[in-house]
Formats: sequence, C-alpha cells, structure tokens
Amino acid sequence: MKSSLTDRIMAALRTVKDPDLGSDLVSLDMIKDLETKPDGTVSLRVVLTTPACPMKAAIEADVRRAVGAVEGVSRVEVKMDAEVRRRAPAAGAQAGGSTHIEGVSHIIAVSSGKGGVGKSTVAANLATALALEGARVGLMDADMYGPNIPTMMGVTEQPKIEQDPVRGDLFVPPVAHGVKVMSMGFLVQGDQPMIWRGPMLHSVVNQFCHKVNWGQLDYLIVDMPPGTGDVQLSLAQLVPVTGAVVVTTPQEVSLQDVRKAIHMFEKVRIPIMGIVENMSWFECDSCSKKHAIFGSDGGERLAKKFATELLAQLPIQQQVREGGDEGRPVVIRHPGSSTAEAFRTFARKVAQQASILSRSGTTSEPIQIGRF
Ligand SMILES: Nc1ncnc2c1ncn2[C@@H]1O[C@H](COP(=O)(O)OP(=O)(O)OP(=O)(O)O)[C@@H](O)[C@H]1O
Ligand SMILES: [Mg+2]
Repeated sequence: MKSSLTDRIMAALRTVKDPDLGSDLVSLDMIKDLETKPDGTVSLRVVLTTPACPMKAAIEADVRRAVGAVEGVSRVEVKMDAEVRRRAPAAGAQAGGSTHIEGVSHIIAVSSGKGGVGKSTVAANLATALALEGARVGLMDADMYGPNIPTMMGVTEQPKIEQDPVRGDLFVPPVAHGVKVMSMGFLVQGDQPMIWRGPMLHSVVNQFCHKVNWGQLDYLIVDMPPGTGDVQLSLAQLVPVTGAVVVTTPQEVSLQDVRKAIHMFEKVRIPIMGIVENMSWFECDSCSKKHAIFGSDGGERLAKKFATELLAQLPIQQQVREGGDEGRPVVIRHPGSSTAEAFRTFARKVAQQASILSRSGTTSEPIQIGRF
C-alpha cells in the first residue's frame, strides 16, 4: 500500500537534523501544524529552541529541500518559529530552599576574574542583541557595589512596586531597548556607596531573583561583579544557572584572574558557555592595521585550555564606549557596524549554547555552599 503524503513528508523531515542538538526535527518535536492541500501545497511550522538560532537559515533551507523533493508536493510554505525550552529541574533540586525563577527559561551569567574588562558592556549588548532577535530578555545587574547597567541601558526610571497575592510585594523592572532591567542603581541615591557584608548581598541577590516580576523570559542575563566573591556564590546557591560567559582582555593579568573565575564556576557546577575576548585590538583612523594593545590570542589559548569556545573577539572602539556612556548599546546605536554584527553573532552563539546545555542536561542546579 502506498504511504500517505503526510507520512512521506514526515519521513523526509526525519532526515533533517538540528546540527546543534544532534537529532532530527521530528524526534525533537519541532514540526507543528503540518497541512497538505489537494494541489500539493504543504505548509508547516518549524519550532526551534531559540529565536536567535544561528542555524535558522540552514535548517529552513534543508526543510524546503527535503519536503520539496517528496513525490506529490508542488509547493512548500515554511514558517520558522521558536519556543525556548527550560530543562525540567532535577529531583531534589529545590534542596536548601533554592528554586528556579518562575517563568524564566535560562539564566546566563556574564562574568570575569578581573574588573574593568567589559562585562557590563558585553552583558548590555548581549541582552539587547537577544531582544533584537525576538527573544524575551531580562538583565539583572548583580554588581551591587558598582551598578553600571542603568547608565549603559539608559534607564532613569525607578522600578514600580506591585502586589502579588502569592509572592507579596514585587519590583516591576523598567524596560529599555526591549529588555527588562533591574539594578541596585535604582535603589540607592546618586553617588552613595553600598557598604554591605556577604549575608546582605545574599539577601539582595535573592530579592533580585524572586522579588522582581520578571514575567515570562527566555533569557535572564546577569551582569556579575568582578572576581569570585559572595554574589557569585549566592547566585549559584539560589537559582539554576544555564551557564556563564567569561569575559577577558588578551593580557596575562586578565587571563590569570579569569582562570580562577573558571575554576570557581567548575566548583559551583555552573557550565562555562565560552570566552569573550574584549579589547582584542584597536584600529586607528589613519591606518587599517589592527593594533593588539593588550596582546594577541589570549582568549583563544584560554578557550583551548578549558576545552571551551571562543565566542567573540571584540575591538576597542570609541563607539562601544560612547554607547555605554549614552545608554544606547552599540547594537542599537550603530546597528550596521561590524562591531554590532560581532555582538549579534556572539548573542546567537550564546542562545545556541543555552539550547545545547539544557538539552544535554548539564545546566547547574543550585548548590549548597559548604558542600565543596
Ligand atoms: N570594546 C570596547 N571598546 C571601547 N570601550 C570599551 C569596550 N569594552 C568596554 N569598554 C569601556 O571600558 C570601560 C569598562 O567596561 P565595563 O564597565 O563594561 O567593564 P566591567 O568588566 O563591567 O567593569 P567592572 O569590573 O567595574 O564591573 C567602560 O567605560 C566601557 O565603556
Ligand atoms: Mg561592570
């Protein structure tokens, strides 16, 4: 007996793989709303695991080719869609009172060993670039002592407070460039310093996770303070973190500190998604030569050593600094520039890593400090 057109199309789709997830689109349950018409027109929706998928165009082309080659098909209409999936928490993950943030699929930390290497710049551009891809994004400024995110995202508004019948008073994060933003900078007056010890920091990180109405988010980007201190431990303890992006400049002193940061993440079982090498080179106006002010290849060597990916190499550029100071990240301020493109490619890679990590089940679950 001859198989039906739908069966033949599904068989053809079983030959199309998501290269990142290593399986075919049918097994991954990515094919939705498949319809066939008597004239041989086929329509279907492909639901990827992220709207920022770097393989989107290639997968769409493969689907069109595979379905188009099926006997009886005259036309193929493909709608590319995405649904960011969260990995189901492991049994016992709630130990110690810690819990995932309701409605948030992936928490991604932007970290470094050393101060001033560009974490906040990278976090602001990453969050904004993911929002530009169509993802629902939040940006938590976890640098309690030096909160720069309100300036870099251009937010002057205070978060409002609303009452939730179950969760009590919640902060409503202001939105900038399509990103929900929460920062200690909203809560302290002007230039007043924060003078806090660890337990107080822990309590604020907890509030920023659970007492902010983040709503439904695909990605919550966390801009970390430099180093390997209380905030890093609190985050690891309080919520499941999909992974950490580690920012470094190419010079040895930064690499040295970043190695410590990577070891800390290994200890608290947060996967490293990859390395960003910032301030990799400078191009002056009068020559097109790339000046490697802080040295070359540091990020690449580090990535090799820790068997991780070098996710981006970003130049020192006045536009990047100005974007930060003006509250308009370079991906918004100079959308066509090569640096904006580099940030957007990097953001797609991060989204790709998040999908891979949550599928492979290596996303961290909250740890209890003292166990290591
Ligand atoms: N690629 C770049 N080109 C030019 N300026 C940059 C670049 N990256 C960062 N900067 C600038 O360098 C300064 C430090 O960057 P940023 O605040 O992002 O670093 P950080 O690692 O978050 O610092 P901290 O450890 O203090 O939190 C900022 O003024 C920022 O605008
Ligand atoms: Mg910072």
